[in-house]
Amino acid sequence: MRPGLRVLGIESTCDETAAAVVEADSLGRGRILSNAVLSQIAQHAAYGGVVPEIAARAHVESLDKLIRRALEEAGCAVDDLDAVAAAAGPGLIGGVMVGLTTGKAIALAAQKPFVAVNHLEGHALTPRLTDNIEFPYLLLLVSGGHSQLVAVNGVGDYRRLGSTVDDALGEAFDKAAKLLGLPYPGGPQVEQTAAQGDPERFNFPRPMAGRRDPDFSFSGLKTAVRLEAERIAPLTKTDVADICASFQAAAVDVVVDRCRAALRMLADEPRPPTALVAAGGVAANGAIRQALARFCAEAGLRLSLPSPDLCSDNGAMIAWAGLERFRLDLVDGMDFPARPRWPLDSHKDPRWHGKA
Ligand code: KG4
Ligand code: ZN
Repeated sequence: MRPGLRVLGIESTCDETAAAVVEADSLGRGRILSNAVLSQIAQHAAYGGVVPEIAARAHVESLDKLIRRALEEAGCAVDDLDAVAAAAGPGLIGGVMVGLTTGKAIALAAQKPFVAVNHLEGHALTPRLTDNIEFPYLLLLVSGGHSQLVAVNGVGDYRRLGSTVDDALGEAFDKAAKLLGLPYPGGPQVEQTAAQGDPERFNFPRPMAGRRDPDFSFSGLKTAVRLEAERIAPLTKTDVADICASFQAAAVDVVVDRCRAALRMLADEPRPPTALVAAGGVAANGAIRQALARFCAEAGLRLSLPSPDLCSDNGAMIAWAGLERFRLDLVDGMDFPARPRWPLDSHKDPRWHGKA
């Protein structure tokens, strides 16, 4: 293993502009040297969601400053880097192109290897950076765009066990918040409001609970919240808090039940997972974190929960995934395209990684 690798990572697939430098020591253990993130929430809040054109422009305006800041805070010049990594998707095409083109330009000018990173792989590998988790492990990926359970067997070796058939969990939080009149982004708002509410007042459905395949579905839960809100309107502050708490309780139950189904599916594998790791913005939710801790204690599994700022989108996860790929010589050319869609389990398929 090469000693002291340093990689710059750039993230611009959604509404966070981010750049970071991470390092791996001679034993391969990771360390974050800098992690500069600029959230665009204020620019999108008035629209109740991310506006792609506004996002792309905001990335253009701030990415160079964030990269400079990340390098300064890491105390490192471009010449000190071993590679440059940028998220090449999945995400909003305008934003992806801003980060990807910038990453390629820096790599080209500094004559450094370039690594195109799948944003989901960034989330998937983060627990190896934060907790040095060994393969194989079970990944619960819950964000604004994805809800998946994935068997992570190695870098680039992912098997999707289940995913959502409709809304992502973060999307369900955001939509529930919107119809209750809470500001965007809804996830943290629902969590805060739920803290004052009664989780047992409404018995919302637990979609997919008990099913053998570890898939998710959240549109029925969202509809149940809407119907209940309409039935008891006008809503008092207590009603809103009780709906948030009851919605969150249903979401927590579903997440735990689906993790159990995924583990059952992997129980007979030659190398079953020894850890459960959670990633993506929704993994910042305190109720979900506590429920996963209880579940893992009962199941005898190690649990890795990156800190909330490393669950939501950031540059360190892209830099780390880039570093993991770079040390396996998985580097990419300047012709690597921006991929608005890019399934995590497509890495072995040359049509998705490379030049097809
Ligand atoms: O991973 P992420 O930052 O961006 C995507 O790639 O989607 O996830 C953002 C999502 C949003 O839907 C947001 O509402 C949700 O994660 N989220 C939360 C919490 N913090 C962020 N959902 C529930 N509870 C939270 N504390
Ligand atoms: Zn994400």
